[in-house]
Amino acid sequence: MSLSVLRAPLRRAFFSATPRAPVRTTFRKFSTPPTTPKSSNTLLYTSLGAAVAIGAGLYVYNSSSATAKEAATTIKSVTQVVKSKTKFTPTKEDYQKVYNRIADLLDENGEYDDGSYGPVLVRLAWHSSGTYDKNDNTGGSNYATMRFDPEALHAANNGLNIARTIMEKVKKEFDWISYGDLWTLAGVVAIQEMQGPKIPWRAGRIDGFAKDATPDGRLPDATQGSDHLRNIFYRMGFNDQEIVALSGAHALGRCHTDRSGFEGPWTFSPTTFTNDYFKLLFDEKWVWKKWNGPKQLEDKKTKSLMMLPTDYVLTQDKSFKKFAKAYADNQEVFFQDFSKAFSKLLELGVPQSQFVSTEPWELKTTDEQQRK
Ligand code: HEM
Repeated sequence: MSLSVLRAPLRRAFFSATPRAPVRTTFRKFSTPPTTPKSSNTLLYTSLGAAVAIGAGLYVYNSSSATAKEAATTIKSVTQVVKSKTKFTPTKEDYQKVYNRIADLLDENGEYDDGSYGPVLVRLAWHSSGTYDKNDNTGGSNYATMRFDPEALHAANNGLNIARTIMEKVKKEFDWISYGDLWTLAGVVAIQEMQGPKIPWRAGRIDGFAKDATPDGRLPDATQGSDHLRNIFYRMGFNDQEIVALSGAHALGRCHTDRSGFEGPWTFSPTTFTNDYFKLLFDEKWVWKKWNGPKQLEDKKTKSLMMLPTDYVLTQDKSFKKFAKAYADNQEVFFQDFSKAFSKLLELGVPQSQFVSTEPWELKTTDEQQRK
């Protein structure tokens, strides 16, 4: 079969395992710039004036050492509340429009990685939620604190400036959406559009302040073992089965030497959500890669795939192995469990009272909408 007859994503999947030179990424200190509120509504402007006054008041009252950026965010958050009270209450259909816009952006740059921003958006959704600590109820997706330094600059978040920059385009068009809702929704869009399971999701996160940002060290360290994985994920409120299910997201994307230091994709189809990650873990022989980089494994046969120490541990730890094997044997079971665990992840740190609906929504894929 000629490769040219394959659909673009399939072509990419076919070529994806080819080792590639690390993509050079320009790093910059990323913090989301404050946006100027725009509205044609006079009432809204009056309210905005009040909001700015309240915001400024809050700023002075709250923290004498806060930055100007924080003040702008305070004002913006108040603005959001005012807007929703006076003018615009987004419906599920409005969020479907945001979904569709994000879906449009996924493949807009064929030169990027394997041709899709999907994987890096899944990582953004995960890193913005996975900071949650159930012991003191801090972190999680509510306040989108990765907008602020130093959280934006934590080594674990290297490369996510790319994902946040793409999301800025959407934010400009749908300025009423909070960053927490936008980033978690992007994860949902990416999974669903890359042929994964439906991810129940609902809106309600609000933008927070720099003071809500989490300390470094809350996200997992790929060089560690099962104790570390349990420490990190139990802290978020997950169990062994959920740890394994969530790790299955490594079916997507790749490691980059200029972001994490690791290199390469986990599967041959890094832009399609499958249970291949688990299948490959058991079906391939994994050996330590001989190189100057951090300790990682490579498949003995093609040397084009990789596993992190924390991936490999899923086949070594008895409890993890049971679930990993079940997911390797049955993609449907993996999809069901992943959907539940990912949906739960995206809601960490968000008070129930903030959600706009009691039940999460299922947003439609672009394929489903076209079939109609
Ligand atoms: C279990 C502990 C985990 C560790 C130690 C870990 C570590 C990593 C590392 C080192 C990278 C490479 C980053 C880069 O160089 O670009 C990565 C990428 C990725 N991770 Fe994880 N991760 C974990 C869990 C998860 C979870 C729970 C999810 C989502 C549910 C996830 C989704 C992803 C995705 C989609 C990528 C690819 C990003 C891209 O292609 O740009 N990971 N992870």
